[in-house]
Amino acid sequence: MFSPIFKDKSKLLPTYVPQKLPHREHQLRLMHAFFDDVFIDVDNQPLRKIQLIGGVGTGKTCSSLRFLKEIKRKAEKLNVNLKTVYLNLRFFRECSRVVIYRNLLKKVAPEIYSSSLSASEILSNLFRYLKNKKTYLLLVFDEVDYFVEKGGQEALYEITRFNEFEPELGNVFIGMVFIARKENYMQKLDSATVSSLGRNKISFPKYDFNQLVDILKERRKESFIPGVLPDDLIGYIADLTLAYPVNGDVRYALDLLLSAGILAESEGSSKIEMKHISLAYERSHYPLTSEEIFSLSIHEKLVLLSLVKALMRDKTPYVTLSRFKLAYKLTCEEAKVKQKEDFERELQSLCDRGFVEIKSLTKIGLKGIEASKLYNLLKEVTEVEEKNAG
Ligand SMILES: Nc1ncnc2c1ncn2[C@@H]1O[C@H](COP(=O)(O)OP(=O)(O)O)[C@@H](O)[C@H]1O
Ligand SMILES: [Mg+2]
Repeated sequence: MFSPIFKDKSKLLPTYVPQKLPHREHQLRLMHAFFDDVFIDVDNQPLRKIQLIGGVGTGKTCSSLRFLKEIKRKAEKLNVNLKTVYLNLRFFRECSRVVIYRNLLKKVAPEIYSSSLSASEILSNLFRYLKNKKTYLLLVFDEVDYFVEKGGQEALYEITRFNEFEPELGNVFIGMVFIARKENYMQKLDSATVSSLGRNKISFPKYDFNQLVDILKERRKESFIPGVLPDDLIGYIADLTLAYPVNGDVRYALDLLLSAGILAESEGSSKIEMKHISLAYERSHYPLTSEEIFSLSIHEKLVLLSLVKALMRDKTPYVTLSRFKLAYKLTCEEAKVKQKEDFERELQSLCDRGFVEIKSLTKIGLKGIEASKLYNLLKEVTEVEEKNAG
């Protein structure tokens, strides 16, 4: 469908990794420099580890993903089979080794995956599989600080020593990138893990006003029809993004762009105006951003939507479990999805992630966001997602 506003809405979504990352050229260069000669005599290379450290929304995740793409291309040119895997540790419900290894195995070798394997069986199988295929692995572990806070110290230690697991098989893992918001998570680690993580750190400072403007202009080129979004509004969004409590998180700026664009589009306007940004700003509820919604499974989204609808319908801050169940039944029917008997799992996971508050079976509510605001965000994200898929 023709839009007078968007060239490609999906280019504003958190799942999209832009080609160009202004003001992160230096960090990317450092990452490449660190892995520069890793493919020379690859079997005898020590496992290289780096840490990316920087606040929320400073481009750590997208830079690491860009790096993975680029190094994979480099490996191809040198005829080395390299697999790259990105794992966000925040989204694991438990901090156990086996949960991480399962996820790793599922991504690397789904054909040998089985949920009945123990942690060491998984590692052993993975090693042999990769050796047979003469394939090497480079891993990114995102949000390590969060994982350590939840008690993942031991698992982290083991990860940094993967290559020692079956030393007779030689190297399989060639590199690991660990991402954290602050360095101080290391205080919770024992000295062996700290030294195993290595000293190589790349810092991601907060973007300043001019850098934010450059970034947003670059994103504008990819997402909007030329002339739709004037420069002064980009500056205004950069200001809002730098102010408290957002403090420079780019994902907030991108959400504002998407929301303002959708509002302008729905009004049939051919330009984004100040009023669209103001309304998008009023509707937003930092720190909740579209990225958080994206990270939910389909069923978690349905459960969340059911709760939001029940709260809106009853106009109360909490609903009872039975009111929630009814809303869930209706939402599933509407979405033509089969209801899950054990939807409590999703409810609990939403609670773990800070969306939902379960005070008791008669008091289930949202945490720190109004139902109507969350409804808008859920709707926007699912609409763009559906268009993307279709
Ligand atoms: N330099 C940049 N250029 C373009 N987009 C960027 C840049 N830095 C961050 N972004 C975008 O901002 C959002 C947040 O970045 P992300 O890498 O997830 O931050 P972090 O992991 O540091 O919290 C992502 O959607 C990303 O694409
Ligand atoms: Mg990140």
